[in-house]
Parts: sequence; C-alpha cells; structure tokens
Amino acid sequence: MTYSEIREKFVDFFKAKGHRLVPSASLIPMHDASVLLTVAGMQQFKPYFTGEPSPYGDRAISIQKCFRTSDIDEVGDDSHLTFFEMFGNFAFNGSVSKDEAIQWAWEFLTSPNHMGIQASRLSATYYDGSRVGTRADMTAQEILATLIGLTDISAQGEDNFWGPTGGEGPCGPTVEFYIDGVEVWNIVFNEYYCSVEKELTPLSSGLGIDTGMGLERLLTAVTEEAGNMYETDAFLPIIEAIHKHVPEVGAEINRSMKIIADHLRGSVFLLSDHVRPSNKEQGYILRRLLRRAILHLDKLRVLPAFDELLEVIITKYGDFYPELLTEKDMILQLANLEKDKFLKTMVEGKKELDKLLASHGNKSSGEDAFNLFATYGLPLDFIKEETSVNEDEFNKKFQQHQDISRAGVKSKFGGHGLSSGATVSSADRQKITRFHTAAHLLHAALIKFLGNEIKQAGSDLSVERLRFDFTFPRALSPEEKTLVEDWVNKQIESNLPVKHETIKLTDALASGAVAFFKEKYPDEVEMYTILSPDNSEVVSKEICGGPHVTKTGEIGKFKIVKEQSSSAGVRRIKATID
Ligand code: ALA
Repeated sequence: MTYSEIREKFVDFFKAKGHRLVPSASLIPMHDASVLLTVAGMQQFKPYFTGEPSPYGDRAISIQKCFRTSDIDEVGDDSHLTFFEMFGNFAFNGSVSKDEAIQWAWEFLTSPNHMGIQASRLSATYYDGSRVGTRADMTAQEILATLIGLTDISAQGEDNFWGPTGGEGPCGPTVEFYIDGVEVWNIVFNEYYCSVEKELTPLSSGLGIDTGMGLERLLTAVTEEAGNMYETDAFLPIIEAIHKHVPEVGAEINRSMKIIADHLRGSVFLLSDHVRPSNKEQGYILRRLLRRAILHLDKLRVLPAFDELLEVIITKYGDFYPELLTEKDMILQLANLEKDKFLKTMVEGKKELDKLLASHGNKSSGEDAFNLFATYGLPLDFIKEETSVNEDEFNKKFQQHQDISRAGVKSKFGGHGLSSGATVSSADRQKITRFHTAAHLLHAALIKFLGNEIKQAGSDLSVERLRFDFTFPRALSPEEKTLVEDWVNKQIESNLPVKHETIKLTDALASGAVAFFKEKYPDEVEMYTILSPDNSEVVSKEICGGPHVTKTGEIGKFKIVKEQSSSAGVRRIKATID
C-alpha cells in the first residue's frame, strides 16, 4: 500500500460513516498553550468535548501533524518517531457509541476492502479501573469479546487511561489495538473531565470519542515488503536519497540514516509551521533536531546533500501539506542558516570539550556535558562519543531547563486566553492582561500610521514586555515610532472602555474586526472593541480570546523599546508598560 492510498482509505471509510474531514491543525497548538507542540489530533477539537458547539458537526476526522519529544532518544530504532501523522476519528455529544467506535475500528483494520489485516495478528486491551474514582471498562471488554477472531484481549492500568492534554480537560478509558504487538490505534472514550487539581468529574456533555492511529505504523503493518517504517513509501524516497551518497552498509549507518530521515522531516514540518531555531521552547526542539541530523550527516559524509534531502521531503509531502511548498524557500534558507551556525559553534564546542577532557580525563559530569550542550549546542550524542557522561545528572539539568521553558509558555497567552497554570501569579496575570490590551492598541496604531497592508504575524506576551510581529518591508523611522507610541498613550490617557461581546464570526468580520489570519476561528467568537471618547470612531476592534482590561487607563505608560527585523518582510516591536 502507498502513503496516499492509506490516507484515502481512512478518509473514505469514515466519511461514509458521517464524518467530516478537517485539515490538520498547526504543530503549534492554538487552543492549548500549556503544551509546546501538538501531540494529538484531539487538541484542535478539545472545546467540543465539553459542550462548545463544533463548527464541523458532531463527527469529524483528521490526519494530524503531531510531534512528541518523549520518544526522541528512541529514534533510530524501527518504531519511534518525533514527528508523525495521526489518523483520528472524533465524535462529540454522544453522537457515536462505544460499540460503534470499537466495531468500526475492527472493520477498518480487518475488512479486505480496507486494511485487510488478519485477525490473528491483532490484540486489544481495555481499562482495568485501577485509578481511584474510576471503574474497569467492562462494556469495552464485552464489545471486544464479540469481535470474531480476536482472541488476545487483556486489561491494563494507566496505559489505558488517556488525557488530559495540558493542565486540564476531557479524558477517559481507552481501548488499544495492537498489530504484531505494536500499538497502533488508541480509542479514547472521553467520559470524565480532569480539573487542574486532578479531580475527575463525569463529562456532562455526553460520551466523546477521540481516536489516534499512527499512520506510519499502520502503513508498515500493511506493507508486506516493509520490515520497518523507513521501508514504507512514506520514508523510502528520503532513505534512498541518503543511501545514494552512502555506499557502505551496517547497523550504525542504518541507525544514522533513520535519525537523519526522522529529524529532517520533523524540522521541515516545524519550519513550515513557523517554528524558528532558538534556545527555548519549540525553537529549542527544532534546533536540537536540526543539529543532531547535521551531526549524523557529517558522520556519514553526506552534509553536501543537505538541501537535496530537504527538497525530497518537501516534494514527498507537499501535495498533502501545501504549506511546505509555499514556505519552501524559507525552509531551505533557515535550515542552512542553522547549519552554518552550528558548524561554526561545533568548532568552539569541540575546543571546550577538549579542555574539559584535559582537566577531567575521560569522564564528564552531567552538568559539564549539559553546559556544552546548552551553550555550544554540542549534542549529547557527540559528547558521548568522546567521553562518558553522567546521564542521570545531564537529564536532571535538561529537565530543569525544560521546566523553565514550559513555565515560560504557561505564563503567556494562548490564542484563547490566559493559561490558568499554577505558575502564573495573579499580579503577573494582571500585568499580562494589561499588555494584551496594549497589543491591540499597538496593532491599531500600526494599521493607522503604516497602512492597511500590515498584518499581525505573531505576538508573545510575558510579564516583562510585549512582542509584536507584523508584516512590513522596512524599518520604521524614528518619527513613525514616536507617532505610534504617542497615539497609543493618548488612547490610554483617554481611559476608554473596552467592550466585550460574543458574536458570530461572520458578523464580527463584517463589522470590520481585525482577525489573526493564522488562527482558525469557531462560528462564535469573542470580540473586543474600543471606541473614541465621543463614540464616533473605532479605535480598535479585534477578534480575540482575551482577557483584557476594562478601561484603557489601567494599562499604564506604553513605551516602544525596540523595533527590529524579525525575518524577511517581518518587523518586530518590543514594548513595555509602567
Ligand atoms: N488522543 C489519543 C492519543 O493521542 C487518541 O493517543
């Protein structure tokens, strides 16, 4: 079976069962600021499991771009990936029963018209009720027992209880299907809501179905000649493009090729969703992937084929993910910038490592290794080849670093409001709320003084500053900056009320509200409007999840501290408030 055939089969099967196909959401979660990257198909549907009306109806499917860092060290074996695609069928408000969800999965896997997998290769698990406040899912067990040919059914604990993603949300017991012992399909029955305090309450909006099936694993199982994921049509063009330049064979080389294929593929997708290499959050994950791939390319002496490999990936997936094609130049440019930077720092890092080895001998503490890793970007793999590393200590340091990054994410806004994460104090929350309204005024000022073509390209709020990216081809003049700053301060001094309405998306757009083009909006949206003192003019009107101050006077004095280029055609303003 080919990559495009398996996609089509999944979509056709569930369309025939009344599901609407929804495009994959971005790898950067829009509704879930508490996780760095999209880890599951259900994330874009999360609100619809708890009663918010779904714009797609009660049944949806997607083939979602997912990224999980938890398996990063396993990559190079036969079944673990960082970036992967997840087939998912979803149902809200009890519109699909547990019985139907399980029967359909079985039909799709075993029917000769679909996956045609022999029942003897399949096994299934259901939830044993081991978590306090829950029960074993005997309904699922009874349904599984009716499936003809399925003999291997067992109960499992925590592994068969899924969710929530992030701090809180829907969750519940699961049924998992395995092919030849490898987990492929997780069928979640959202029956509970888990609060931030980890308390479970029954979901009042009825049973939710949330499933996730790894495309690559399924494709491997139904491709007879494929011994592992990299031998399926999803990966072969990439592996072949590397192999062309590597005449030798061997287990180590194979592992390197798999790491290169996985990491470059993940990097291409992250770049196409506007993640940029950096030392924190999503950018840090991308940097790590790219650098590790470059290291292995260097080891195999294939670095000159860097661009060729990126292009193979873009071509392979471009038909299904058009953003790869539209962002192609940017992807190649940014990946090469990072490559050049890395090769330069590698030389520095190697010098530091040599110094360390000279003073410590052939042993490096986890902390030293982590510092080399964090400061010079020397990957652990590389350090490990030169010296033995206390990995527990390294991981502890790494974890601390990640926790700091995550806390950073929690203290920012997602597209739909301030995270209720415990890391944000109420004073910080208030400050960020003030910044949020200031960002709307800044946005309005930029449109007013620079013209209608300026479009918001991103924003990021912390307790210290606001950062606002927008499309504009040149630097602002000092006069323009003063105009913008003065106008914002004038709106603040006028202490204008900020009006909040819940309104139909179409009405909001018709009324001239500014929307963020990268955001996917539901049918009903929140709109924030600020009018001039005599109500004759719209100062600012935006579709936005909030929260905002009630009167602009609460914001305080606004100051632009920096205006700089962010990327080609995009400017970045940093501003503070006192
Ligand atoms: N949300 C479930 C998962 O990602 C289906 O495994």
